Amino acid sequence: PPSAEEMRAIVEAHLGLEGPLLPILHAMQDTFGYVPDDAVALIAEALNQTQAEIHGTISFYHDFRRAPAGRHVLRICRAEACQSMGGARLAADTLDRLGVDWHGTTANGAVTVEPVYCLGLCACAPAAMIDGRVAGRLDSAAMGELLQEAGA
Ligand code: FES
Repeated sequence: PPSAEEMRAIVEAHLGLEGPLLPILHAMQDTFGYVPDDAVALIAEALNQTQAEIHGTISFYHDFRRAPAGRHVLRICRAEACQSMGGARLAADTLDRLGVDWHGTTANGAVTVEPVYCLGLCACAPAAMIDGRVAGRLDSAAMGELLQEAGA
């Protein structure tokens, strides 16, 4: 896990900004891949806010991860075009199959599942993206292949 010094350096690098909280959180995530629990107290102290306020901000934005991601990140589209083409069912089945909830990581650490709101692939709905590679017209079998490739 990241050291207190590393986290403190990130906080200090952004303290001069107006509204430093989001830039700090983004920098944490960019650097470590997630926002470590231990960072919350550090940030709260530096910004003179409560830890509850920092937690509130982290959970308000879908982008922040509270734990390291798995080796692969699967983003399933939850926007309208995909929903209307069976995306909700595909997502529910996928989460079920992996035994995780949104933002969860499979027990073997292979795959983290995140929601995404339109990948610009509406014509090929339902769509998803794995490690930055997009996949359209997904059905349960095609999703199964993606997951198998990812070692889920
Ligand atoms: Fe899913 Fe646009 S709505 S890709």
